[in-house]
Amino acid sequence: MNIKLTAQLPKTHTQKILKKEAKDKDSSCLVVLVDNNKNILASDSLTEYQERIEQLMAVSHFSGKACETVADYALAGDKKTTKANPLQLLIVGVGAIDKLNHSALQKIAKTIYQSTQKRVASLTIALGGALQENEFSQFALNLLAATYRFDKYKSEQTAPVLTDIYLLADNSLQSALDFAQSVFVGQSLTRDVANEPGNICFPAYMAEQAQELGKKYSDILKVTVLGEEEMSALGMECFLAVSRGSVREGKLVIMEYQGKSKFTANHSASYRDNASSAAKAGLKAIADKLPLKANTKKGSNSDAPIVLVGKGVTFDSGGISIKPGAAMDEMKFDMGGSASVLGTIQALCEARLPINVVGALACAENMPSGEATRPGDIVKAMNGKSVEILNTDAEGRLVLADTLCYIQRYNPKAIIDVATLTGACVVALGHVRSAVFSNDEDVLFELENASAQSGDLIWHMPLDDEYQSLLDSPIADMQNIGGKGAGAVTAACFLSRFVEEGQAWAHLDIAGTAWNSGKEKAATGRPVPLFMQYLKNSVDMA
Ligand code: BES
Ligand code: MN
Ligand code: ZN
Repeated sequence: MNIKLTAQLPKTHTQKILKKEAKDKDSSCLVVLVDNNKNILASDSLTEYQERIEQLMAVSHFSGKACETVADYALAGDKKTTKANPLQLLIVGVGAIDKLNHSALQKIAKTIYQSTQKRVASLTIALGGALQENEFSQFALNLLAATYRFDKYKSEQTAPVLTDIYLLADNSLQSALDFAQSVFVGQSLTRDVANEPGNICFPAYMAEQAQELGKKYSDILKVTVLGEEEMSALGMECFLAVSRGSVREGKLVIMEYQGKSKFTANHSASYRDNASSAAKAGLKAIADKLPLKANTKKGSNSDAPIVLVGKGVTFDSGGISIKPGAAMDEMKFDMGGSASVLGTIQALCEARLPINVVGALACAENMPSGEATRPGDIVKAMNGKSVEILNTDAEGRLVLADTLCYIQRYNPKAIIDVATLTGACVVALGHVRSAVFSNDEDVLFELENASAQSGDLIWHMPLDDEYQSLLDSPIADMQNIGGKGAGAVTAACFLSRFVEEGQAWAHLDIAGTAWNSGKEKAATGRPVPLFMQYLKNSVDMA
């Protein structure tokens, strides 16, 4: 889809018809937006059409409520539109102009796309000055997102007729449009990889996707993949406890986006030196090749990266604590967190924001087998803490725990992990807002800001110390599940134990927002818009 700003109405089919110049192939539609007081947006530019628009509103009893539509067939004779007899004028209601929030903009954008995509080749949407920069950006992204399809597994694909969208609005919105386009590219990658089934998308597939980006944007992106041998050398037993039941090798994918400066992950050897002595000799050699941890103060360096960590469980069967059968197929989306990190890195490469960001994808498949972790097994994380795995279905926190330990060698300015972590989060917040937990007021403030600006909504949840005791184990440093209550909170508490004192960190639980269930089953691409807004704002602050 091409989407462009335009300062004036192009010579549409309608104008040509009025001037009797129209040819069959000129299939272009003008979209006019009208609020619930029947004010025509961008009316200054539409004087030529005003009479027709008003006639049309009158005959159809148009009220201007959000997503109400009236199509003008009259010019071509009162028939249904066809290729030879196309749609020329579409009036779309936007409702109360002061209530144009994210979800209204999304619905309006979807309505416009769906009512035109099979009928015309190009659209001009008359926005004028109706939208502020943020709203405009959201609207453009929603229009683009509405064009997304995942139909590669259908033996027949239907291409849309619509190929060009022109937005009649001020030139000053060009950079907002460019930004929306970058976000769209990344968000589409997120949706693509998350929509892939588990037999195609497994840890090595995620690693390949990242490496492809590494090649495509080789001047600003460096990708490294750690396999199970390296993770074992680092003492990442929690991560490996998840991947060991699967024949697919677990992968920790590190993507270094160097938009500001070449930063060295100046990192320390093995963070932990307690692998079994037999393993030590061979494994130490591998660990020694890995970067060393710097002893500078955390985040003190202005080039220090922001680190995004994504849960990448490419299929979550539950492991030995196997899940019930109903809707288990949807657990192919359990890598949605890492898909969103991957997509955000691509969006950054497209937007070329002048910042440093590391993306870490914690990829593993959680399967039952004779090799799989048993409930009751005890393993040690990379930071030396022991974990009693009471439920193998609480696996996301295990892969994230070791990944959090690992990425702290970057001395990050902030760490944000993102995960389809708990069913309890879906119970708490449903499918509207993602949950956010944080130990840092500034990071939280900036995330909430970005949430409001992007419309990719989050809600702040608690992390009080009082919840931590629910993770006490009689035999190890902690267990991997809490009690019956506050499941999303205890999962966040578990993660907090792998973040060093003083390190700014936030955790997003996207279990309810990463995909739509049931008949509409598909990845949403969230929270790529949130991340991109947050990262963009971090440039403006620097
Ligand atoms: N991937 C699931 C969480 C999930 C469930 C996401 C439903 C989206 C929809 C996660 O790995 C999981 O299984 N969590 C368990 C934790 C429990 C065993 C403490 C859960 O939420 O039931
Ligand atoms: Mn699980
Ligand atoms: Zn899971």
